[in-house]
Amino acid sequence: MQSFPAVDPIPLPAPIWLLKLLHIVTLALHFVAVEMLLGGLLLAVLLSLFRNSPQSRVAARALARRLTVVMTYVINLAVPPLLFAQVLYGRALYTSTVLIGLYWISILGLLTLTYWLLYRFTARLEAAKSAWWVGLCAWLLAGCIARLLSTDMTLMLRPEVWSKMYSASASGAYLPIGDPTLTPRWLLMLAGGLFIGGLWLMYLAGRSTFTADEKRFLAGLGGKVAVLFGLVYLAAGLWASAVQPGTVQAGLLNHPLYRFAGYAGEVWLALVGIAVLLAAVAGFGKIAAGWLSWTGVLLALLIEIAFTLYRDGVRDLTLLSKGFDVWNRSVETNWWVVGLFLVLFVAGLGVIGWLVSVVARAQKPMEQEPMKGAAS
Ligand code: HEM
Repeated sequence: MQSFPAVDPIPLPAPIWLLKLLHIVTLALHFVAVEMLLGGLLLAVLLSLFRNSPQSRVAARALARRLTVVMTYVINLAVPPLLFAQVLYGRALYTSTVLIGLYWISILGLLTLTYWLLYRFTARLEAAKSAWWVGLCAWLLAGCIARLLSTDMTLMLRPEVWSKMYSASASGAYLPIGDPTLTPRWLLMLAGGLFIGGLWLMYLAGRSTFTADEKRFLAGLGGKVAVLFGLVYLAAGLWASAVQPGTVQAGLLNHPLYRFAGYAGEVWLALVGIAVLLAAVAGFGKIAAGWLSWTGVLLALLIEIAFTLYRDGVRDLTLLSKGFDVWNRSVETNWWVVGLFLVLFVAGLGVIGWLVSVVARAQKPMEQEPMKGAAS
């Protein structure tokens, strides 16, 4: 029986390699923002729960103030990869999304609620009120969204269960069961959140808006969190890789194209290892140097790119083993449109760079001061 729906007869408007490149770049940026949200929020919750020093209160508030901004990046950087994924993998992705449609559509409500709770969390911290339980609710909701997205991204790789699921419930109210790759993959994202959250604290330690005491606290805590969860992240990555089917693992080693995704997996391992060593220097030496902050940022970015490349290889090889070849599509490139898109894409990046530079040059208050206009 043919598992995948018939291919759309309209050819793709751009080369597949270009669509994949844009997909991987934008998805890696989505993952950086997602990890900052998942990890930074949980760290802010824990810091506000055990607020046993003035530094921990300042650190919780500093993270919370930035999380509402991070959320805008989570959402805006989610749209481009969603569009590219639909173009490249629509037949698999639409099917899995429709099969869990009720849960998928609930993401909109969950997301709105998470966003609102983030604002409440920040406002309560600014007003020195108990806030951890509000932040915890936001984190649990964000974790649910991550779980639903992992469910969708793994279900799209299992055409063999689609018709059984549809027979069980055509209303999209039935979640798939029995996929050994789902939980490791979701936990990998959660562990990565705390690892990136630790690197984020190390980055903050290099900012001039903190006092020397606060910088030492941020570097010490951030470094230790990044060491611990860097190791958990490595273990979760090895687990998520080990549960992949044999054909996928063999393809990552031998396939002429996808062995490069296999190399990306090795690069990921090496980069996380380097970041853990760097974090140990910051964490145990309580060193808050600018070079440590920026190296951590660069490593976080490279780690997410390597992760996304590896994950892309896993997806393509799994689909290939089931008869879906992402490269097998007719293409009718409209170079004018592609050119216009690229010009606008680069201009958009330029505008974002300019906005970031304006924010960087603006005079900033010290972090201990309550933020003006924060409602209680
Ligand atoms: C709190 C908000 C969000 C969280 C925590 C989150 C988390 C995640 C996670 C964990 C994954 C990886 C799933 C996996 O492969 O196992 C993912 C992928 C993805 N997310 Fe998000 N996400 C959020 C918001 C959104 C939004 C609003 C959208 C849609 C506009 C979105 C679109 C996507 C897409 C399309 C992918 C997969 C793309 C691909 O594999 O090609 N995300 N997200």
